[in-house]
Amino acid sequence: MAIRKEEKETTKEETVEKEETPQVEEEEKKITDVPGIGPGIAAKLEAAGVYDLMGLAVMSPPALSDMAGIGEAVARKAIQAARSMMNLGFMSGEEFAKKRENVIYITTGSENLNNLLGGKGVETRAITEAYGAFGSGKTQLALTLAVNVQKPKDQGGAEGKAVYIDTEGTFRPERIKQIAEGIGASPEKVLKNILVARAFNSDHQILLIDKISELIKEGEPIKLIIIDSLTAHFRAEFAGRGQLADRQQKLNRYLHNLMKMSEQHNVAIFVTNQVMANPGMMFGDPTTPIGGNILGHASTYRLYFRRGKAGSRVAKLIDSPNLPENECQFWLTEAGIRDEG
Ligand code: GTP
Ligand code: MG
Repeated sequence: MAIRKEEKETTKEETVEKEETPQVEEEEKKITDVPGIGPGIAAKLEAAGVYDLMGLAVMSPPALSDMAGIGEAVARKAIQAARSMMNLGFMSGEEFAKKRENVIYITTGSENLNNLLGGKGVETRAITEAYGAFGSGKTQLALTLAVNVQKPKDQGGAEGKAVYIDTEGTFRPERIKQIAEGIGASPEKVLKNILVARAFNSDHQILLIDKISELIKEGEPIKLIIIDSLTAHFRAEFAGRGQLADRQQKLNRYLHNLMKMSEQHNVAIFVTNQVMANPGMMFGDPTTPIGGNILGHASTYRLYFRRGKAGSRVAKLIDSPNLPENECQFWLTEAGIRDEG
């Protein structure tokens, strides 16, 4: 399950160098750090969708008592402890703005697609999801981003490395080389700055996230995490109708951790997702993303890709909280994602 690290030394001419101080923010306290909450109770809470201190802090004593099978007095104490352990205060507008200042944007290679996403591409501290049918361009965008994240910041990059979690065995080094050549970069150097891991099942896929956290803490300047595809293993492993709730719960928890990680380390997360036919739908596009609503809420930006006219592709931004629902056209070219074919 090791992430393949190709040659750790970095030379001076490379754009991507190790950061002197790893960008790690304060380690988050876990739910089991709360007095009175042991692993057994934590497991019960988790099963009910309470994963962290925040989840606990917003509960009422009777609800917690019910859920965890503990007395109300103990529950009240635990909630109070959770509240005091986390900084529940307000953040000033200035502090908030300062946090947002750290956001780095990674160009998609297409102005149209960048504009659809608010102007500059895929951003750190956010999850961007692309869903669509096979061949719609999800992997091609992932590969293009893995190259572009390495660019200097004034050219639409984040001067960082990419991690590529490949669940389907579709990562192609040759394709990366072509895309790198397309922006005039050294294919070998670009390839070195992409850490590839093949995830063999959903548990493995989940574990890899911890591994990436470790790498970042060790100083690897990772700025982009790609999961291609996010849902394939989950879909295959929880195939039965009765397993849907379990699948959603596991997926939900995973997404929650991904979101936390993107905030903690200021990284961008790009995930791809498949679609399933929606036979009940009679008008419009009869496809729905796997994972449904949970994924929809977790991803900050959600793109739907489909084939367009004359070999082009169309991207649609779906229910974004701060951007209008819109569409644009882009092309899959030898050099990656572009505005023209
Ligand atoms: P699934 O993973 O199967 O769900 O699909 P996907 O959405 O990931 O598809 P992907 O991004 O792999 O897109 C595949 C398409 O990209 C192909 O059908 C080609 O149209 C296009 N493509 C891939 N490589 C090249 C290339 O070198 N040049 C050009 N012009 N197009 C390419
Ligand atoms: Mg693909």
